[in-house]
Amino acid sequence: MEIKKFGVQAQAQRPSQPTESPAFNGPITPNSLPEEIINMFNERLGDEYTAHYFYRNAANWCKNMNYKKAAEFFEAEATSELEHAKGLQDYLTQWNIIPQIPQAPTTQNFMNLVDIINKAYNMEFGLFEKYSENQKALDSIHPATFNFIQKYVDLQNGSVAEYSDLLNAAVLVDTNDKFQTLYFEQTYF
Ligand SMILES: [Fe+2]
Repeated sequence: MEIKKFGVQAQAQRPSQPTESPAFNGPITPNSLPEEIINMFNERLGDEYTAHYFYRNAANWCKNMNYKKAAEFFEAEATSELEHAKGLQDYLTQWNIIPQIPQAPTTQNFMNLVDIINKAYNMEFGLFEKYSENQKALDSIHPATFNFIQKYVDLQNGSVAEYSDLLNAAVLVDTNDKFQTLYFEQTYF
């Protein structure tokens, strides 16, 4: 078996005269994201907090009205919106950017349970369109962020389907009738 003499070879490649190494100037500054991506993320961050407060208000309204299952459902929605917001912020800090959280509306008024679903559907569909537009723009400027934002497009796609189902179910009952509305809530939440 042939034994290669790596040590000897390595020694032969060393320069005969030691060269002077450049001065050490401390750690280099890591790269960041383009300004338009930072702005895009900060705007979506505001939308995620808007959604959080929307569902927080919806949960409060349902609890107050004694729609227990719907209250629990909207509680969970409020929590997952905070997770979405955290995900965007973690991505920014990972790229050495301090997130700027925009002002988000904290209060909401609801007329009834279907009013909440109508508003939730519009909000989720609006955000689905925004994330889809953002992803299209990211395709040409930052492939890694394009991949990251895919998860948010998927989440919105799921939410649009979820509220679309609830709207279709609401058509099956007379929501002016209290008992039918309670049946709807018990069945579909
Ligand atoms: Fe969200």
